[in-house]
Amino acid sequence: MTEQTIALVTGANKGIGYEIAAGLGALGWSVGVGARDDRRREAAVEKLRAAGADAFGVPLDVTDDASVTAAAELIEARAGRLDVLVNNAGITGGAPQEPTLVDPATIRAVVETNVIGVIRTTNALLPLLRRSPSPRIVNMSSSVGSLALQSAPGAGVGPIAVAYAPSKSFLNAVTLQYARELSDTKILINAGCPGYCATDLNGHRGLRTPEQGAAIALRLATLPDDGPTGSFFDDAGVVPW
Ligand SMILES: NC(=O)c1ccc[n+]([C@@H]2O[C@H](COP(=O)([O-])OP(=O)(O)OC[C@H]3O[C@@H](n4cnc5c(N)ncnc54)[C@H](OP(=O)(O)O)[C@@H]3O)[C@@H](O)[C@H]2O)c1
Repeated sequence: MTEQTIALVTGANKGIGYEIAAGLGALGWSVGVGARDDRRREAAVEKLRAAGADAFGVPLDVTDDASVTAAAELIEARAGRLDVLVNNAGITGGAPQEPTLVDPATIRAVVETNVIGVIRTTNALLPLLRRSPSPRIVNMSSSVGSLALQSAPGAGVGPIAVAYAPSKSFLNAVTLQYARELSDTKILINAGCPGYCATDLNGHRGLRTPEQGAAIALRLATLPDDGPTGSFFDDAGVVPW
């Protein structure tokens, strides 16, 4: 088994996921670039390697059981364990997302990727994470899923988005369920919000760079053994549920 820390980032071919992979690579870690499109994945791996990162491609569609199983097999064959899983892949589902107009199929698709995809991927990788001395799971969430912020008068977190925002509330709740079940293990699992970053997800309207968005994931991926679990953070600290 390799001594080098090994991580897998889902949806790492672009945006915040790519920058998370770059940041972990800069730490000297071996980073699996999880991505569903062969061309985009290989381009990202090449770019990361050119920057000096020990990156390798992991074909991965988080909505596909066989793909996720194959990804876990690839990591097992390569390293025999996984130290850090960053569940970053996500979609918004597009428009319309007003509750009165939404197509139920949009809600299903968003939950399938943003929530069930995380559960599917986490469960497939858990046996490998359990072999790590300091396993970490980072779920990329969003403050738009915070029920506390959405219900605070005047807080105004994000546009009305009945598929995307509740998918992140759901993901937060799922993160807590894992933290409770895994509380007697060494696994720390937390949710992180990258802030509003300019990526394809929002037509590059975000105000922060993807690199700035990656910072919270890097922090949660490198928590000490006595670090928090079952919490929700952004760069400023704890985000209310
Ligand atoms: N940008 C923001 O302001 C913001 C704010 C809060 C939270 N977030 C969260 O941060 C994460 C990254 O967002 P981003 O802004 O970097 O978005 P992005 O640029 O659109 O990147 C999303 C990534 O997820 C991948 N993906 C989507 N569905 C997938 C699937 N079924 N299987 C595997 N990969 C899949 C995409 O792959 P393809 O290239 O193949 O589509 C892409 O690599 C998301 O979870 C998002 O909800 C973003």
